[in-house]
Amino acid sequence: MTKHNPTSIVIFGASGDLARRKLVPSFFNLFRKRKTPKLITIIGFGNTDFSDEQFRQHLREGLNQFAGFKFTEEEWNLFARRLHYHRGRYTDLDDFRKLSEHLKNLPTIFPNVIDLLGLTDQLQENEGWRRVVVEKPFGPDLASARQHNLQTHKVLNENQVYRIDHYLGKETVQNILFTRFANTIFEPIWNRNYIDHVQITVAEKVGVEHRGGYYDTIGVVRDMVQNHLLQLLTLVAMEPPASFNATALRNEKVKVLSAISPMTPARVAENTLRAQYKGYRSEPDVRADSSTATYAELRLFVNNWRWQGVPFYLRSGKNLTEKLSQIVIQFKEPPLAMFPMPPDRKMASNLLVLSIQPDEGVHLRFEAKAPDTVAETRSVDMEFHYAESFGPTAIPESYERLLLDALQGDASLFTRADEVEMAWGLIDPIVQTWETEQTPPLAGYKPGTWGPAEADSLLVRDGRRWHYDKPAK
Ligand code: BG6
Repeated sequence: MTKHNPTSIVIFGASGDLARRKLVPSFFNLFRKRKTPKLITIIGFGNTDFSDEQFRQHLREGLNQFAGFKFTEEEWNLFARRLHYHRGRYTDLDDFRKLSEHLKNLPTIFPNVIDLLGLTDQLQENEGWRRVVVEKPFGPDLASARQHNLQTHKVLNENQVYRIDHYLGKETVQNILFTRFANTIFEPIWNRNYIDHVQITVAEKVGVEHRGGYYDTIGVVRDMVQNHLLQLLTLVAMEPPASFNATALRNEKVKVLSAISPMTPARVAENTLRAQYKGYRSEPDVRADSSTATYAELRLFVNNWRWQGVPFYLRSGKNLTEKLSQIVIQFKEPPLAMFPMPPDRKMASNLLVLSIQPDEGVHLRFEAKAPDTVAETRSVDMEFHYAESFGPTAIPESYERLLLDALQGDASLFTRADEVEMAWGLIDPIVQTWETEQTPPLAGYKPGTWGPAEADSLLVRDGRRWHYDKPAK
């Protein structure tokens, strides 16, 4: 992308939720910050019957609700002129012909849409570029993910495809790489010799809200673990790439996924826990006898020299106590308990907490001598909060980063076809075993709690404990 090249963006499904909540506010904020090309045109394509003006009004109302930034009417008016709407059906070739007349050389999201547009024509070198940004689901299983990829690759090269996992757009998720590889102090201890285990929590306070119909066919493992949690795991576990580019980074992530022990039904029974919140079956559009899990816990092992024997515990759920996403690296206990301790107390382990949200930051917990005692220790925190160091509004919406990267042709923060398939390869046997063998049994939990009984947790059964605590302000 250069600032002066005219750039056209087509949003398919433009009358839907994502466009109004995330995509258009993100493009608008990038435009305000002068990060988009000057000559940008955004065309919304959708089923709803909007005029350009109605479309703009619909998005303007969305901004009141969803924009996480302040803007002036003048800025909006400048941007609004760049917005247009084209009504059409995704299966109708004629509608696409009309769209093509409206705008030449269009990329799109759905494989059938890609076919209809005939993106196979290669652009001449001086004619610019075409890229397709795709939002999930890239599934809901390995077979369909393969099918998507096959269809996509019939008309596009992999380097034209930008598959979004919005977790990768979060500053704190990108900061995992910076914490590890822009410092020298962590890497020497980032392995099985020093790390006892890794905990990855993505907890949500909300239930399924208005998405009951979709969620009931998908469940927590496909909705959150296959993508977001496995992405977090790969960033924590990967080897240092030789350079900060899309190929090197994604190669390392794929290596991590391929080193995770595959799941057999016996391993699913041993290494997973599933639960559903009470009242879920009465949510709108949810089946009355649904056995869809809204909470899951997984214990995974990455079988390579760095991680052999170190459990990665992953958990995610809806309707939990609070919204909290964090990665806790728990280090091993000191080899010798040199300081005298009351018999009921154990030496605390050091923790490195990568706080993804809502209190973005990093903190390190270590032991200090309690003053005015002979040899008592207390756990204390060294804390970094983004809000304190960079200001309360420093963190942009994750879609901003991703959309800008897609405009600039940087695919580092997008998932590659093989990565998506590898992740489904891990998840498929879990979902299948849950469905066909009903193992492990579906537990229940009360909304507003941390999930099923703590004693059932795989991590707790291993003699460990979950860390809930956020860094104190
Ligand atoms: C989406 C899931 O991918 O991520 C939703 O489909 C979930 O079910 C959302 O609520 C969570 O994203 P965030 O950024 O709020 O943690």
